[in-house]
Amino acid sequence: MWQVLVTDEMRLGEIKNPEVRLDYRPNMPREEILRVIGKYDAIITRSRTQVDSELLEAGTRLKVVGRGGVGVDNVDLEAASRRGVLVVNVPEANTRSAAELAWALLLAVARGLVESDQKIREGKWDRKYLGLELDRKTLGIVGLGRIGGQVARFAKAFDMRVLAYDPYIPRTRAETLGVELLDDLADMLRQSNFLTVHTPLTEETRGMIGRRELYLLPKGAVVVNAARGGIIDEKALLEVLEEGHLFGAGLDVFAEEPPGAEHPLVQHRKVTHTAHLGANTVEAQDRVGEAVLERVIETLRGNLAHAL
Ligand code: NAD
Ligand code: MLT
Repeated sequence: MWQVLVTDEMRLGEIKNPEVRLDYRPNMPREEILRVIGKYDAIITRSRTQVDSELLEAGTRLKVVGRGGVGVDNVDLEAASRRGVLVVNVPEANTRSAAELAWALLLAVARGLVESDQKIREGKWDRKYLGLELDRKTLGIVGLGRIGGQVARFAKAFDMRVLAYDPYIPRTRAETLGVELLDDLADMLRQSNFLTVHTPLTEETRGMIGRRELYLLPKGAVVVNAARGGIIDEKALLEVLEEGHLFGAGLDVFAEEPPGAEHPLVQHRKVTHTAHLGANTVEAQDRVGEAVLERVIETLRGNLAHAL
């Protein structure tokens, strides 16, 4: 029987498979994971658990890492490969929910939802606030993959013009989506009243939207990051917000999570936050849970179809 440790919140349903014994320990502290991982054939995580070389080394019996979601930036793929540990993810299972959350943040910022809600709770009926309309504005998307593509589809319902920067996709993908694909990031930023990033976090994308890039956006632009903390440089974002160049920002992710109440972006009145909730819908988590477990079991059986 395979022993599988689950170290992040997940909806795995009832496990009827006699080949597997699941240990569901979503809040297990790292030291404990390191202490017990040697007993397990597989580990299933989301983004909380850093599956780094230290953990992989401690996992002397590990054969498979299952990532319940898209991003594998919390998994040291090189170290896993060196140790012969296979990594599987379920990249298609939360696309819709992540795209919907990016839109929720964009709309919340554009209409001051959080601030207005807060004021009403304080007994203040403030109707002076003026938000932004989306009609015929330009949305710039960095990364036109699964989520970026779905974000673009939704933009059409608001009659927005949609631009994208993604040097790795075929032009036909953008054409099918009705999106203008630009070869130059700066060119796209200069035209984008709203900017949303949907790339993985890599050496190339870390900090790719910095001070210079944020200042290329038209004054009063809105910025959304529901991909990974650090793609938009946090220090630069804070500065540019303070200097009044941006209307606001919506953030689902931070370079370090949880960011803590003292983080200046957390306290900034022009920033609306969610706690890395892009994939947190009942529907997405049901799909993620089912698919990741199935892929881990398939991989343990020796079927490598989903191994990265
Ligand atoms: P995807 O692989 O389908 O799309 C990513 C796109 O980014 C690809 O088209 C790729 O070509 C493009 N890209 C890569 N490097 C780039 C660069 N330097 N410049 C421009 N484009 C670049 O992935 P996806 O399913 O759309 O997910 C995107 C990311 O969103 C994931 O890697 C993950 O980190 C994040 N995510 C977050 C949540 C959340 O809960 N907030 C949920 C799901 C995914
Ligand atoms: C992902 O990459 O899929 C996201 O971080 C969401 C998640 O892990 O739940």
